[in-house]
Amino acid sequence: MTAGLSIRPLQEADLEDAERVRRLAFGTFLGLPEPLSFSGDAEYARGRWQADPTAAFAAELDGELVGSNFATRWGSFAFFGPLTVRPDLWERGIAQRLLERTMALFSEWGVRHSGLFTFPTSPRHLGLYQKFGFWPRLLTPILAKTVAPGPRQLSWSRFSQPSEREQADCLGACRALTDSIYAGLDLEREIQAVERQRLGDTLLAWDGDTLTGFAVCHCGPGTEAGGDTCYVKFAAARPGPTAERAFEQLLEACEAFAATRGLSQLVAGVNSARQDAYRRMLARGFRMQFVGVTMERGAGPGFNRPEVYILDDWR
Ligand SMILES: CC(C)(COP(=O)(O)OP(=O)(O)OC[C@H]1O[C@@H](n2cnc3c(N)ncnc32)[C@H](O)[C@@H]1OP(=O)(O)O)[C@@H](O)C(=O)NCCC(=O)NCCS
Repeated sequence: MTAGLSIRPLQEADLEDAERVRRLAFGTFLGLPEPLSFSGDAEYARGRWQADPTAAFAAELDGELVGSNFATRWGSFAFFGPLTVRPDLWERGIAQRLLERTMALFSEWGVRHSGLFTFPTSPRHLGLYQKFGFWPRLLTPILAKTVAPGPRQLSWSRFSQPSEREQADCLGACRALTDSIYAGLDLEREIQAVERQRLGDTLLAWDGDTLTGFAVCHCGPGTEAGGDTCYVKFAAARPGPTAERAFEQLLEACEAFAATRGLSQLVAGVNSARQDAYRRMLARGFRMQFVGVTMERGAGPGFNRPEVYILDDWR
């Protein structure tokens, strides 16, 4: 253990250091020649902190920020990450201290199910998270597709377009849709983060008054997408007999949206438990960029089930 270590809320003044340690930690773990180049111009720390400053923690040693962790609550479900520690201080229990604090927050939130995304072949990562009751389940491939060129008609509405009152209705409709997949699942935080920080937009598809699907997208540098990319942070199609069609339309809309933003790559993660969703993406020409494993805490499969049409990856 490291004497003098304190775990405290992450402050705005810490964000630059937190982002640097995040790049250095991942870049070092992955053996990059220039570790700080990890994830290019994609950014996590500021966006996550602004989405919920009470859910981000700093590890401080001798007045310096040496690690951080970010928790995310989607209603009845929560996940954490990126969790990072400065490489010269690995294996001294710092991540475990950050996780103790994060687990206390999960308890306060009273979530039914929680999880994380990690490296499936790393004994260090699996061993660390198992100590906190998270067990490896299925793989989550991160998939990418080159956006087909040419003009596109985007028939879906966008969250950024309606008035504030209408936005409240949209949030309610999104909540009802996700609740019908997993009780209490609520993406308001992600939708509002994208809206308030101008990270991209949330696409909404309607059949009359019924929301059939929505997709929360980050676009370009300074967001979790980075570069020339539209990243689907979360998307869901309404369950039931028309779910397959709604999901295909959702993928089509995300690609059209990327094209309207002049972005050439569309990226989305899908848990392989959602078998049909995964197969349909491959059939559309998505290819795997890399693969993580989910580790989960909570009874049952949560929303990682074969009949579910959700895109997300918990990174
Ligand atoms: C992963 C990371 C956050 C761990 O930070 P850390 O401060 O070194 O972790 P800790 O010292 O608190 O805990 C390490 C634990 O790993 C586990 N571990 C390590 N090697 C292991 C092995 N071969 N088998 C099983 N468990 C192992 C142990 O539980 C160990 O704790 P213990 O020895 O006290 O029981 C850090 O290595 C890091 O920043 N890596 C790069 C970024 C990253 O991968 N982040 C996580 C993405 S999901």
